[in-house]
Amino acid sequence: TVVQDLGLHDGIRRVLFGNNLSFWLHKLIFVDAVSFLSGRRLSLSLDRYLLVDIDDIFVGKEGTRMNVRDVKALLETQTLLRTQVANFTFNLGFSGKFYHTGTEEEDAGDDLLLRSVDEFWWFPHMWSHMQPHLFHNESSLVEQMALNKEFALEHGIPVDMGYAVAPHHSGVYPVHGQLYAAWKQVWGIQVTSTEEYPHLKPARHRRGFVHDGIMVLPRQTCGLFTHTIFYKEYPGGPQELDKSIQGGELFLTVLLNPISIFMTHLSNYGNDRLGSYTFVNLANFVQSWTNLRLQTLPPLQLARKYFELFPEQRDPLWQDPCCRERERNISDERIIDRLPPVLVLGPLRTSTTALYLFLLMHPSIVGSLPSPRTFEEVQFFNGNNYHKGIDWYMDFFPTPANVTSDFLFEKSANYFHSEEAPKRAASLVPKAKLITILIDPSDRAYSWYQLLIIDGQQLRSDPAAVMDGVQKFLGVTPRYNYSEALTFDPQKGFWCQLLEGGKTKCLGKSKGRKYPPMDPQARAFLSGYYRDHNVELSRLLHRLGQPLPAWLRQELRKAR
Ligand SMILES: *[C@@H]1O[C@H](CO)[C@@H](O)[C@H](O)[C@H]1NC(C)=O
Ligand SMILES: *[C@@H]1O[C@H](CO)[C@@H](O)[C@H](O)[C@H]1NC(C)=O
Ligand SMILES: *[C@@H]1O[C@H](CO)[C@@H](O)[C@H](O)[C@H]1NC(C)=O
Ligand SMILES: *[C@@H]1O[C@H](CO)[C@@H](O)[C@H](O)[C@H]1NC(C)=O
Ligand SMILES: *[C@@H]1O[C@H](CO)[C@@H](O)[C@H](O)[C@H]1NC(C)=O
Ligand SMILES: *[C@@H]1O[C@H](CO)[C@@H](O)[C@H](O)[C@H]1NC(C)=O
Ligand SMILES: [Zn+2]
Repeated sequence: TVVQDLGLHDGIRRVLFGNNLSFWLHKLIFVDAVSFLSGRRLSLSLDRYLLVDIDDIFVGKEGTRMNVRDVKALLETQTLLRTQVANFTFNLGFSGKFYHTGTEEEDAGDDLLLRSVDEFWWFPHMWSHMQPHLFHNESSLVEQMALNKEFALEHGIPVDMGYAVAPHHSGVYPVHGQLYAAWKQVWGIQVTSTEEYPHLKPARHRRGFVHDGIMVLPRQTCGLFTHTIFYKEYPGGPQELDKSIQGGELFLTVLLNPISIFMTHLSNYGNDRLGSYTFVNLANFVQSWTNLRLQTLPPLQLARKYFELFPEQRDPLWQDPCCRERERNISDERIIDRLPPVLVLGPLRTSTTALYLFLLMHPSIVGSLPSPRTFEEVQFFNGNNYHKGIDWYMDFFPTPANVTSDFLFEKSANYFHSEEAPKRAASLVPKAKLITILIDPSDRAYSWYQLLIIDGQQLRSDPAAVMDGVQKFLGVTPRYNYSEALTFDPQKGFWCQLLEGGKTKCLGKSKGRKYPPMDPQARAFLSGYYRDHNVELSRLLHRLGQPLPAWLRQELRKAR
């Protein structure tokens, strides 16, 4: 079904397929062909890292949980998998609140899991399986997590793996800042995983990112969910599960991703033990048909490996959760339908502040709240504020008085020239209306260019005149009369502040020092030395339309 054309006729080597790519082996050969024809430039290494999480330990419904025989089978599966997948270890996520809430047989299963605590890796789920995005303060999240940690310490469960998973992916993405903060505070979490970034589907577009110091890895789907517990009742029939393993979706996931994290649940290892069935058969199939090297790493090492392979994924790109029900379901209500529909982009020095104030006068238009650092601007899309997350951004927007009629806007004049702002804004507020102000670029450049050149010699000899010029330049009022306030001190030889009663206040000894006159030869040498620079300076000042200082005119005359 596949022919290699050596390219003897036209010098172009090809791999020709006798049929389409529906047959799984063609897909495998296609991946090889791409690698072969590109001289291995378009190819992955043969290393494949697998992590299998078993979540909802203790959570399952009574009657569907693991009993003692199931736990023994799990341990045997792990031993068997280690012959195919180097260092394979199941990673168990627990919610302590539900410990011993099954049948008598299942409670004995719980106990055997805890007696086998050292055989597995462990990670915290939420104590009571609550969704973190529903918590609006960090301290109550911390309280919940602390309960689960107490449970772990009581039962000898290790608490230092640095990995955690949130129920229903809640709060991980879209990011709920309080979850990240609480995870770090209670558990020292550095890694988590989710299927939701940037979106659940298509699965092949899932990516990782780093937020607030926590590495978020993409999670893959293995086709087992809480309720997939009987082989015969597998959705679409058991042959669908077997197809997925034998060259289908699950096999391709391992083929095409150097790192795959799969989520399974307690119930998948009781009942028909579909979890064990799936991974043992998957490993067998991969080992029979490929040279891939399967192995397992602890989550923290796995995350470091991931971002070594994909460093460009570290910086997140936030999306608006407005339009997909699943994403709305796990988002903080503050970001649902509340992102500003209007952005004023700038650029700087075009009266953006005036426009901002005029907009605020309208009864239905609501601007962002002032920032202590950047005043009326949020400056979210252009710089590092973006990495503080959507929560941080939304804190700048007041709750509208009338949600149906009020609309929010923000103005940040440096969005206009930012390289990152367009991509980020298009992703988070794709439908926003954008306002920019254009003025004659000459006027804008002139107003942007803030420069007064002072003749230093004149400042010493006639400071009042110079200070008049400075006041005019700055536009300060009222005008201060320096002729009245300064007086020449003949003893010191320079101008000093005139105090009441005729006294003077001069600068200290180190300032306005007098030197013996310069040796004429030295002056002539230095004049020559600086001649070319002075000529250049005069040209520059001329071009800028600035008057030449008296000393410069003198020097130029000498040069002629
Ligand atoms: C691929 O080829 C098979 C076998 O010839 C055929 O049944 C199937 O419809 C084809 N699929 C597509 C997408 O063309
Ligand atoms: C398995 O883990 C041990 C200890 O963590 C390590 O020394 C060993 O190299 C690992 N084996 C493989 C094949 O990665
Ligand atoms: C956080 O929530 C708890 C209960 O939900 C409440 O007792 C506490 O006062 C809240 N703290 C803050 C800072 O709002
Ligand atoms: C979203 O939440 C609602 C209410 O809990 C639920 O009925 C619905 O199935 C959820 N939708 C998705 C796609 O998760
Ligand atoms: C909100 O605005 C809508 C549309 O203008 C209006 O019909 C409604 O009465 C307003 N609601 C309140 C509480 O003012
Ligand atoms: C400043 O004071 C001097 C001396 O009293 C006076 O001659 C001069 O007109 C004043 N200048 C201004 C700008 O008021
Ligand atoms: Zn769960």
